[in-house]
Amino acid sequence: MKLLVTGGAGFIGSAVVRRAVAAGHAVVNLDALTYAACLDNVAEVAESPRYAFEHADIRDRAALDRIFAAHRPDAVMHLAAESHVDRSIDGPGTFVETNVTGTYTLLEAARAHWTREGRPEGFRFHHVSTDEVYGSLPPDPSVKFTEATAYDPRSPYSASKAASDHLVRAWHHTYGLPVVLTNCSNNYGPYHFPEKLIPVVILNALAGRAIPVYGQGENVRDWLYVEDHAEALLTVVAQGTPGRTYNIGGGNEARNIDLVRMICRLLDARRPAGALHERLIDFVADRPGHDLRYAIDATRITEELGWRPSVTLEEGLARTVDWYLANEDWWRELADREGVGRRLGAGA
Ligand SMILES: NC(=O)c1ccc[n+]([C@@H]2O[C@H](COP(=O)([O-])OP(=O)(O)OC[C@H]3O[C@@H](n4cnc5c(N)ncnc54)[C@H](O)[C@@H]3O)[C@@H](O)[C@H]2O)c1
Repeated sequence: MKLLVTGGAGFIGSAVVRRAVAAGHAVVNLDALTYAACLDNVAEVAESPRYAFEHADIRDRAALDRIFAAHRPDAVMHLAAESHVDRSIDGPGTFVETNVTGTYTLLEAARAHWTREGRPEGFRFHHVSTDEVYGSLPPDPSVKFTEATAYDPRSPYSASKAASDHLVRAWHHTYGLPVVLTNCSNNYGPYHFPEKLIPVVILNALAGRAIPVYGQGENVRDWLYVEDHAEALLTVVAQGTPGRTYNIGGGNEARNIDLVRMICRLLDARRPAGALHERLIDFVADRPGHDLRYAIDATRITEELGWRPSVTLEEGLARTVDWYLANEDWWRELADREGVGRRLGAGA
């Protein structure tokens, strides 16, 4: 397949690009290279004859039309987005522009391309979304998000993603565009941008700085290793039924405080600091509107498409910590970017 991947210089998009090229697909990576992007993430495939890069913004219709005409992709995997909840609290406008207007513009460019190509049945527009569109769950472990859960987004980020999901479904129902959607839980792993929770914990602990934990660290997330997510996405784009949504989750629920302690223990073993890293934990003011719990029921994708996560949280965290220890050149440069290392989204 020839895949047009948007956001392929970001965290998850780059995992998709690396895996897709390795699996024999041709990949066009379309990315605006915002603060969250890093082309080093795809360095291992950059010289492949099956890889091309297009520096473009998904809000730029003329650029999209040129890229569709030049590459004639069989499928679009749409990951480009503003993705950091804390930044969405401080500056929601960019989230609406990229996640809503950008998705609309990409849908229209994809529809024009699909129409020009004779509306091929095999074409796919794969929209990559988040479990945050479903809102917040109570602590009861038997309650999880299914594909039938009503949308209830609560942050500017999740509201903008929910809006984009609705647009994608509307383009299927109204214009017949063969779309598939996925809603995934929190990802972690190599190349995770240093403003997100897990890299923040690793890098602050390594530097002997305070490790900020929002509220009392009671918030529960369902963690998925990024390579498992990439594999799920490539499964859905190839085998998913048009019009259908698939939830993707790791089956690895953990409270933030427990996750932070697990990382501290991994660092105690690998980089003993004379005292336990846990001593650096600092409970700080909570994020406004912080959702208590997310948990995914991934029965559909497992039963219909045969995908299941392969990496446990313990194993994935160990791999992630080892990767950050071995790749200081990568994160040092990113840690200097605007806003990284500062408390964002603390509210007015
Ligand atoms: N990170 C998670 O845990 C998670 C979980 C579920 C779903 N998602 C979704 O997966 C997708 C990728 O997330 P991520 O964590 O890799 O994000 P990221 O912030 O690491 O990467 C986003 C990429 O999109 C690019 N981009 C941003 N605005 C753009 C624009 N206007 N035009 C073109 N490119 C643009 C950036 O340059 C960057 O390379 C997002 O749609 C996100 O909502 C993320």
